[in-house]
Amino acid sequence: MAESRSKHEREKRIVSLRKAINKYRYDYHVLNKETISIEALDSLKHELKTLEDANPNLITPDSPTQRVEGRVAKGFKKVTHKTPMLSLEDVFSEEEFADWEKRISKLLNTSNLPAGGPELFAELKFDGLAVSLVYKNGVLDHASTRGNGKIGEDVTQNIKTIEAIPLRLEREIKGEIEIRGEVIITKKDFEKINREQKKIGEKIYANPRNLAAGSLRQLDSKMTAARRLDFHAYDIVGEFEQKTHSKEHEMLREIGFKTDREAHISKSAGDIFKFKEKIKKSREKLEYEIDGLVIQVNDNATFERLGVAGKAPRGAVAFKFSAKEATTKVKDILVQVGRTGKLTPVAVLEPVKIAGVTVSRASLHNEEEIKRLGLKIGDTVIVGRAGDVIPDVRKVLKELRGGHEKEFHMPRLCPACGHKVLKGMRKGLPAEALAQAGPLAFCKNKKCPATHREGIYHFVSKGAFDIDGLGPKIIDVLLDQGLIQDAADLFDLKEGDIKPLERFGEKSASNLVEAIGEKTKMTLPRFLIALGILHVGEETASDLADNFGSLGNIQKASLEKINDIANIGDVVARSVYDWFREDYNRRYLEKLLRRVTIEKYHQPTGKLKGKTFVLTGSLETLSRDEAKSRIRKLGGKTSESVSKEVDYVVAGIEPGSKLNRAEKLGIKIINEREFLKML
Ligand code: IVH
Repeated sequence: MAESRSKHEREKRIVSLRKAINKYRYDYHVLNKETISIEALDSLKHELKTLEDANPNLITPDSPTQRVEGRVAKGFKKVTHKTPMLSLEDVFSEEEFADWEKRISKLLNTSNLPAGGPELFAELKFDGLAVSLVYKNGVLDHASTRGNGKIGEDVTQNIKTIEAIPLRLEREIKGEIEIRGEVIITKKDFEKINREQKKIGEKIYANPRNLAAGSLRQLDSKMTAARRLDFHAYDIVGEFEQKTHSKEHEMLREIGFKTDREAHISKSAGDIFKFKEKIKKSREKLEYEIDGLVIQVNDNATFERLGVAGKAPRGAVAFKFSAKEATTKVKDILVQVGRTGKLTPVAVLEPVKIAGVTVSRASLHNEEEIKRLGLKIGDTVIVGRAGDVIPDVRKVLKELRGGHEKEFHMPRLCPACGHKVLKGMRKGLPAEALAQAGPLAFCKNKKCPATHREGIYHFVSKGAFDIDGLGPKIIDVLLDQGLIQDAADLFDLKEGDIKPLERFGEKSASNLVEAIGEKTKMTLPRFLIALGILHVGEETASDLADNFGSLGNIQKASLEKINDIANIGDVVARSVYDWFREDYNRRYLEKLLRRVTIEKYHQPTGKLKGKTFVLTGSLETLSRDEAKSRIRKLGGKTSESVSKEVDYVVAGIEPGSKLNRAEKLGIKIINEREFLKML
């Protein structure tokens, strides 16, 4: 991106980035206002640094990048590390962690190891400055910073001011021993020092890590002493009597060092995930800033055997608390037409990594949301991942506008078929229902190719007809070749129709025909879901089936009768009622029913009959879909929202606001264990 800009544009971008970063700094430190998150700010600084690195002539001494620590101060001697100080590979999610564990288990060929891979050791990852301490015959000889990993700076004098570092080891160790650990400063001291710095008009530190680093690299040791730095040891370099990392921690304590009190041997990934959740919750209350966990193979020989990849040992990872936000640019806003005809604006982003995953698209939901954000095409925005999964645009950084940003308007004609776009919900809806549905835009052309296509994708999808081996790519081919016009046509396909298509052989053609043939009998709820009626998902489909018992009854039901169902509100009732009254839909339904029969519907019986559940937070042993389907199998119901009709709220890890609502309404809250017992 930086490359494609003209020199003038690059200069302009650099200037506005500096201005914005300075403004946020001022807001934060002087006005005490956190206008944007530290993570988003880091993201902007990173962009500035990248631009400046590519254009060094544009660097000015007052640029925020010039605060960055890590350059070799002139006043310090250089020290070459005997063993390089490596860095760690980051993982951000449980999946990434599991991948790492699988990778090393495979390398180690774990057949002779206990099930589940090698024993691991877990500890906190302190956010400070890594240092190396070399003791000779038990006496501190010299201390150095990590520097570039190979050569660091000699900070012996300053290190000696840190009380937590013994000048003589508690037990004499012959010859040389190297200890590594992190120089840190408490959050409290960090704030206190910044307050004092401000009073005397001196530099304000962005975070405890910068302050620890800045303090250690003072030319006057008295300054360092005044900063009351602390030290946590985490490593002994080289072979001593310790055979495992946990023994190293023990030995570190014996010879006079503080180590992480939370550190422990871990038998399984599950244990590590629990540990991470626990620490994440108590993180705010910790005395020191941490940015994740360090997990490593506990057995030292095994750790060594795994070796080094690039600059990081294979036997360890930093399991990071994910940066949940980053800044990026909105390159364009596209409009997608969904299966119900709903038009959704989608931001096309410069690819950016959030919580370990690169994203390039974010739904903007509707025109109102774009107005609320004040978003224009070309804007720099803060992007997060809602519920840690779905990318969402959170804020527009208007200060960074360069003047070329463009307003976005929802098209008046459908981008797929050119049909007029209708805004808002249908006429005749009460105001509150309209507000609930949001100001949506629809293409109401029943033959709109986009709606149509998406509708067929939906028809074959897992929650609906679930046709094995049939996905969007094949449907695209079938539509483009004119082999199908709607989902009902799928049931007429013959092997010979499919075989000639590209990428289809005899076998796969017959497999597909067979897979479709297997689905000519369908349950009522799935059939209803497959119709693609706006607002009808799994829950509404089950409610309709439970209350009416057959498709015929649903077709005949009055608007009032549908509305009477406990979990169905005005908007949904209207949507269902209208669907069955449109000519186009009726013709399609008749065609479909000539090819598919709906199985007789049996009211679910089972021990959960009549009970409604709401799930909030993630469960450890079941996915959300599995949990829902097991509830239904036992005759229970699930709902997305908490109301008085709900019997149980199942609270998993990190439950959301549903829990508060349940508490307010006095609904029984159960945990995963209790829930599993019920099942
Ligand atoms: S073990 C190969 N343990 O994290 C490096 N590092 O990203 C082995 N850090 O430079 C380091 N707490 O400054 C280890 N308990 C801990 C740590 C820790 C913080 C820092 C260290 C290192 C960086 C690696």
